[in-house]
Amino acid sequence: MKSSIRLILLTFLALQFIGCGDRTRVRVLKLGHSLPTSHPVHKALENMALQVRQVSQGGLRIDIYPNEQLGSEREMIEQVQLGSLQIVKTSASPLEGFIPEMALFTVPYAFQDQAHLWEALDGEIGEDLLEAGTKKGLVGLCYYDAGSRSFYTKDKPITTPADLAGLKIRVQNSRTAIEMVEAMGGSPTPIAFGELYTSLEQGVVDGAENNPPSLLTSRHYELCKFYSLDEHSSVPDVVLISEEAWSRLTQTQQAVIKKAANDSAEFQRELWIKETQRALDELTAAGVEISRPDKKPFQASVTELHKSYQGTVIEELLIRVKKLRDGSPKPKRVLPSPIP
Ligand code: GCU
Repeated sequence: MKSSIRLILLTFLALQFIGCGDRTRVRVLKLGHSLPTSHPVHKALENMALQVRQVSQGGLRIDIYPNEQLGSEREMIEQVQLGSLQIVKTSASPLEGFIPEMALFTVPYAFQDQAHLWEALDGEIGEDLLEAGTKKGLVGLCYYDAGSRSFYTKDKPITTPADLAGLKIRVQNSRTAIEMVEAMGGSPTPIAFGELYTSLEQGVVDGAENNPPSLLTSRHYELCKFYSLDEHSSVPDVVLISEEAWSRLTQTQQAVIKKAANDSAEFQRELWIKETQRALDELTAAGVEISRPDKKPFQASVTELHKSYQGTVIEELLIRVKKLRDGSPKPKRVLPSPIP
């Protein structure tokens, strides 16, 4: 009798121990980003976190902090470099302050269309740029679609670059974005995304630029009723993990995360197309005047800016990008134009 009670007690303790062990073995990775939870990018990140949890059978967990809860994108990238934050989803624009090659994507009209951009991202250029961060403590995992960026303004549409004269335009924390708005004739003002609604409301800036889902989900359209689709840049989002956290994961854990990131990128790219169309419809229904200005004057306004990259790594990348379209291009994905 005594020995069977002892056996039951021992089994109970052993089970407790195993249970504790399992709990302590859960590796939690914090992921920060700037966008609201209604944004398609957030949904893709949730998809990635779910897959990581399921495949690792609870051994790995990604906790998502949206809405710049952990700081601006620039601040989050810094935290990832230091290892105090494990994962960041950021626009490639502020990344150029850490990985200079990433400036390629903010260069206005660097790509002929979305299919051209994805040829670059899915190929060697995309791979090289993801790897470029490793020596800076930032391991690139995947790209998300962020469509094209266009101007939205409070008082009048931007039909030619001349309309930007005298306007303060919010840009991301990116030298290339600043130089682009300057070249087009506007006054660039870098502001964190989370502070932009108030900045527009208080008249700190007269407008900004972004893709349709971001204009919709940020509710900036409540203040900016003119959206001019000049599609000046196609800046992807990038998911990066801290080199510090990465090197402490087992190879199996790294593979689980890499696969979940890639799968979430596939999911996000499908979702993006639908959500872009939905955003344009909803913006129109909300009274936003959407126009499609002639791109040529906008392209002409940045010719000098393009020349200024001579002799830099950006020029080399622009040449590689251009080469993708020499000969007969075979786009991997055919994206519909945002406006039917
Ligand atoms: C896009 C991008 C975000 C970024 C935002 C911005 O929406 O996906 O990561 O924060 O632009 O303009 O700051």
